Amino acid sequence: MIPCGRLSLLRDGKGRSLSCSAVADSGRCERVRAMGHDELLRIDYANVMSDGSAMPDAEQSLVSEAELDGLTDRVLDGHASLEKMRASGGIGFFDLPEADISDTLALVDRYRPDCDAVVVLGIGGSALGTIAVATGLLHPWHNLLSADRRGAPRLFVLDNIDPTEMAALLDMLEPARTVFNVISKSGETAETMSQFLVAADWLKKSLGERWTDRVVMTTGPDAGSSSQKLVRELGLAWLPVPENVGGRFSVLTPVGLFPLAMVGVDVRSVLDGAAAEREKCLVPNLRANPAYTLAALLYLLDTAKRKPIVVLMPYGQALRDMADWFRQLWAESLGKENRHGQKVGQTPVKARGVTDQHSQFQLYLDGPNDKVIMFIGIDRVAHDIDIPASLPETEGTGYLIGHTMTELLDAERVGTEMSLRNGYRPNLTISLPEVNAHTVGQLLFLFETATAMAGELYELNAFDQPVVQQIKDATYAIMGHPDYTDLKSKLEQSTRPNDRFTV
Ligand code: PA5
Repeated sequence: MIPCGRLSLLRDGKGRSLSCSAVADSGRCERVRAMGHDELLRIDYANVMSDGSAMPDAEQSLVSEAELDGLTDRVLDGHASLEKMRASGGIGFFDLPEADISDTLALVDRYRPDCDAVVVLGIGGSALGTIAVATGLLHPWHNLLSADRRGAPRLFVLDNIDPTEMAALLDMLEPARTVFNVISKSGETAETMSQFLVAADWLKKSLGERWTDRVVMTTGPDAGSSSQKLVRELGLAWLPVPENVGGRFSVLTPVGLFPLAMVGVDVRSVLDGAAAEREKCLVPNLRANPAYTLAALLYLLDTAKRKPIVVLMPYGQALRDMADWFRQLWAESLGKENRHGQKVGQTPVKARGVTDQHSQFQLYLDGPNDKVIMFIGIDRVAHDIDIPASLPETEGTGYLIGHTMTELLDAERVGTEMSLRNGYRPNLTISLPEVNAHTVGQLLFLFETATAMAGELYELNAFDQPVVQQIKDATYAIMGHPDYTDLKSKLEQSTRPNDRFTV
């Protein structure tokens, strides 16, 4: 990362941060001036590629160009299949960047003037995108700001059913100045509906009949769903989740756009960024299309190089929650039985640079070579901090003085990449020019398209989640939903408590 106009240790001539392979190529490690930048993200995957050294470790863990190019036809077939699904309306996420968002923004205009807090009630795909983008784009301490929020409400996302947390939040809020955005594509999810029942009760107690003014329901079009019935019966404000966009692909629908716009995110720029990335992600060419390259590499690493784990490790606190969002996207889309009856999927893991260098990296560098690490680097930061000569200089700290915290962060990432590379542990770096609404939109679209293509390579439907549904059904049954009485008896019969296995 580099703040505009600063100098940095590990930069190329355009001020872009260097991955370790680029440092090695340039043969230098010197201060270079930030002279400009590309506004589009880029992926450096040199550390995944074998260099023809014929070392057994390299062959077993790194990908050769021939292996990558060997997927060309399958990627082209996958592209054709995705295009077909898109043309028939089967999948909608590709077309979200130019969807009409005027209804969403009109509701934002209506609700924002007398709103101090937006509370999202939702789980999984109904929450993680909002959290990731908000962490990326809001002031790091947004909810603690007072006047500096410039009229933007605070944001709280309740993506779990924790009574202590919910009660504590309600204690802090003023009903007449709180908007609950209840988000559930299915309109039924037990976690979200239970939260809504609690919130409705809390609102009613203070506001009486006017309580419904403080609720915006974001749900799918199914007229028979509980949420849709409530929208009709109570006259709630409603925003749609398109039928052909699954929860984990829905951050660019009102699911993410309404709460994010409410708290001041420039959602049009997020969509513009997604549209810019889409230009690259629709190119029917494995090597020219970054999403297809990424999908092909991760697929090859999992299936041919025994790397069943992919770690996403952003360097920069702003992108830390992007790793949670990606984890759901990759796991729920690709972890399932494929069309040949094989159980497939690569386990996504979240890590944070530099924090997890001091936590997980002993394992990643010295334990089993079963992971591919995806770093996210940031070229420029809005604010850097010089490390000052504030204490008596010692040999142990003097080397830091005169550098910036960003230089230290960069050095740690590049050092980590180099160490991995030296141990034939595949890693790649996605670099953002800076963290802004446009680049965050790009990143979202890159990962979504890579996931869709990976689904084609694994030969499965990346857009369903049969087991998530199974677990939801079990919850409905156990909690006494009248439509699930048969399932309840089945579950009761299959439960086998056994004291012998209790300690
Ligand atoms: O990606 C998905 O489909 C899931 O994670 C859902 O988002 C999650 O289960 C919540 O479902 P719903 O939005 O229907 O309440």
